[in-house]
Amino acid sequence: MPHPMHDDIEQTLFTEEQVRQRVKELGVEIAHDYEGREPHLVTIVKGSMPFLADLMRAIDIPLTLDVIGISSYSGTQSSGEVRLTKDLDDSIEGRHVLVVEDIIDTGLTLSYVLRNLRQRAPASVKVVTFLDKPSGRADAALVNADYVGFTIPDAFVIGYGLDWNQRYRNLPYVGILKRDVYAGPL
Ligand code: IMP
Repeated sequence: MPHPMHDDIEQTLFTEEQVRQRVKELGVEIAHDYEGREPHLVTIVKGSMPFLADLMRAIDIPLTLDVIGISSYSGTQSSGEVRLTKDLDDSIEGRHVLVVEDIIDTGLTLSYVLRNLRQRAPASVKVVTFLDKPSGRADAALVNADYVGFTIPDAFVIGYGLDWNQRYRNLPYVGILKRDVYAGPL
């Protein structure tokens, strides 16, 4: 049966089960590292939402949560522009901030967020990213995550929160989009 979403996927990189398993492991590791301190999760919408929802339930210690909005991408190319679309609700002064990111590619988004957060005097700042594309890193943004779900090669991926033109975020697995979907018919 043709399917209007799954048929657009060239290759599955990580199945729903692999994602579930890895996110559980990250949660256990984070809970262990933060024992005795309360992590304050700061998530970047919208791509990180499924990751956040699964990860926070795998971190079995008290934690708090806030959301920041950043806009940086349109289509599959980085516009190079990063701007704040929604600020945090609460002060992070003296708190142990754990930034929850969907994917680090050029690193420009994360370096913008880290610079912004560090000005607010948190007790500590660490980063957990679901995916890391180290080959995409821009020279201007030598940022790295403290916790990484999966390291991936330089491909445009979608699913588990990641979009192409705001679509495919609801795929429960991570895949690579067929070229003709974003490049149009050859
Ligand atoms: P960076 O600023 O280049 O590190 O990109 C970070 C943001 O770009 C992520 O939070 C995503 O929203 C988006 N992004 C980067 N690579 C991909 C991809 O392969 N698929 C979907 N979105 C991506």
